[in-house]
This record gives sequence, C-alpha cells and structure tokens, in this order.
Amino acid sequence: MKRKKISIIGAGFVGATAAHWAATKELGDVVLVDILEGIPQGKALDLFEASPIEGFDAKVTGSNGYEETRDSDIVIITSGVPRKPGMSREDLLEINKKIIESVVDQVVARSPQAVLIAVTNPLDTMTYLTFKRSKFPKQRVIGMAGILDTARYKAFIAMELGISVEDIQALLLGGHGDEMVPLPRYTTISGIPLSHFLPKEKIDRLVERTRKGGGEIVNLLKTGSAFYAPSAAAIQMTEAILKDKKRILPCCVYLDGEYGLRDLCFGVPVKLGGGGIESIIELDLTEEEKKLVTRSAESVKKSILELKLS
Ligand SMILES: NC(=O)c1ccc[n+]([C@@H]2O[C@H](COP(=O)([O-])OP(=O)(O)OC[C@H]3O[C@@H](n4cnc5c(N)ncnc54)[C@H](O)[C@@H]3O)[C@@H](O)[C@H]2O)c1
Repeated sequence: MKRKKISIIGAGFVGATAAHWAATKELGDVVLVDILEGIPQGKALDLFEASPIEGFDAKVTGSNGYEETRDSDIVIITSGVPRKPGMSREDLLEINKKIIESVVDQVVARSPQAVLIAVTNPLDTMTYLTFKRSKFPKQRVIGMAGILDTARYKAFIAMELGISVEDIQALLLGGHGDEMVPLPRYTTISGIPLSHFLPKEKIDRLVERTRKGGGEIVNLLKTGSAFYAPSAAAIQMTEAILKDKKRILPCCVYLDGEYGLRDLCFGVPVKLGGGGIESIIELDLTEEEKKLVTRSAESVKKSILELKLS
C-alpha cells in the first residue's frame, strides 16, 4: 500500500503552515511547490528536520517544478497574492486568476485523480476557476472558507462566554466575503441554543466581527493575511477526505440548482469523505436567511463575471 501524497502549491504563509499541520498529523508525504527558488526546498528541509524531534514520520520535499507532485491524492492550492490593509479579496482577482490558471494546468496534467482544495482569494471565484479550468468532476474541486469562518465565529463565542471551543457547534453559509451568512439558529453550546446564553444584540455583534474576521487579522499584521487558522482548515478537509471520515463541514462547492443557485461556487454544508464532496446538505432557510444568501450569491456571481471565462 502506498503512502498518500499531499501537494501544496504556494509555499508562503498558508502553504508552509499547511505542510506543517499535514506532516505532524502524518496524513501522508508532503510536496511543497513555489516559483521562488530555494523557498519550498528550504522550508521542506527545515520541516523534515523537525521530524526527529517531534517524532512524525512523513517525507517532506520542496520544488520549483511539478514532477514531484505526480499522482498526488490531494492538491492544496495556496499560490497567489494575499490582501494588504485597505484591500478587499476582490482586489486580488486579476493577478491571482493568471496564477491559478497556470497552476491548475500543471497540477491536472500530473494528478488527474486528485482532489483539489482551493485556498487562494477571492475564494469562491478562484474555486470556480479551478473547477472550470481543471474540468474535474464537481465532487473533486472544493474551496476552503466555511470551516475558517465558522472557526472564527466559534472562537469569538468562546471568548465572549469564557467557555471551551470544544462545546460549540455552529454553521455558516455563503460566499467568503463580508456578506457571509452565519446562522445563529444553528449555533448551540453542548446542544443548548446560543440564545440561551446571549441576547440578540450580542450575537449580532459576534456575527459582524466574524464577517470582518479576515480583515481584523490583515489590519493587525499589516504585511499579509491570516494563515494559522486557514491552513488548519485546509488540513481538516484533507484529513476528512484521506481518512474517508464523512464529516459534515461547510465548504465552497459548485452548485447546480441547490439552494436555488446555479453555476457558481458557494459555501454550503457538505458531506466530505473519500470521494470528495459526497453530498450537499440543503437546509430550510427562513425568509431573512434566504435574503442574506441571495445577497451573498449576487456578490459571488459578480466576481465570477469579472473572470470573463466565456
Ligand atoms: N480561503 C481563505 O479563507 C484564505 C485564508 C487566508 C489566505 N487566503 C489566500 O491564500 C493565498 C495565500 O496566502 P499566503 O498568506 O500564504 O500568501 P503568501 O504571499 O505568503 O504566499 C503565497 C505564495 O504563492 C507563491 N506563488 C505566487 N505565484 C505562484 C505560482 N505561479 N506558482 C507557485 N507559487 C506561486 C508566492 O511565491 C508565495 O510564496 C492568498 O490569495 C490569500 O488571500 C485564503
């Protein structure tokens, strides 16, 4: 039996940290690819040199080419430019479009059976581009955003209530932008509705902080964007697929009529297992939630149109 292979394109903050999580969890061998000479090789070697100390058994290699990625089981695409203060995710569209197109072509030629996990922003649009460009079945192209946004929401609730993050269940829908749709109705703490612990105004404030959660980190860091939580989220998806866990997680996927939406990639709850997206879970939404979903979908659609793919 062969070890699983996880290739990570882009050895920057998100990519290198994802490599760290993947290797320490022994999910498989890790290949880091970047255009910068020496960076993927240096980070891979450094990470592998940590393995005798930490006691993990995973081969980690770095490259400026794609031959090492051949026959990957999972390819996580993080290559691209991150936000700086004052920039929206949409400001990255033109430059990241060109990067994603060339990366997807190289990846697909060598790993036609892989599951692709898109991370580069603007996330929903880049997931759509990856899906269209790769011509892979929709089950095998997945964008990472919902797990991160949900984690931020849970972190803010835990901080507010002074309770463990482990006991919070929550769900979020929609695009990875300021119009994302947190669903307080589906938020519980050990099965107890969040409304038992907090008044509506407080919940609204936590929801608003979640919507702007990415920007909050960008404004603090000033020279880049978040990477610990984003990379952890991408690796949670990787683990769910490689271990066929059949987890229910919010992911960005191609919709073909679900939630009344068509021909876009959008965040919805899915079952994630060995086959990638094994099913999409359609929730009954209130009129208010439907309105928020429509608003978020419109903004994703607008961004997709800017790709000028047809
Ligand atoms: N989906 C999310 O929730 C989420 C969260 C955080 C970051 N992001 C996005 O992830 C991307 C990466 O963020 P980061 O902080 O790691 O940025 P970073 O600048 O640290 O790393 C990006 C890396 O991509 C490399 N790169 C550029 N063009 C390439 C190409 N053609 N082939 C291979 N590598 C190439 C760069 O050399 C750089 O090392 C950004 O677009 C960022 O906005 C998304």
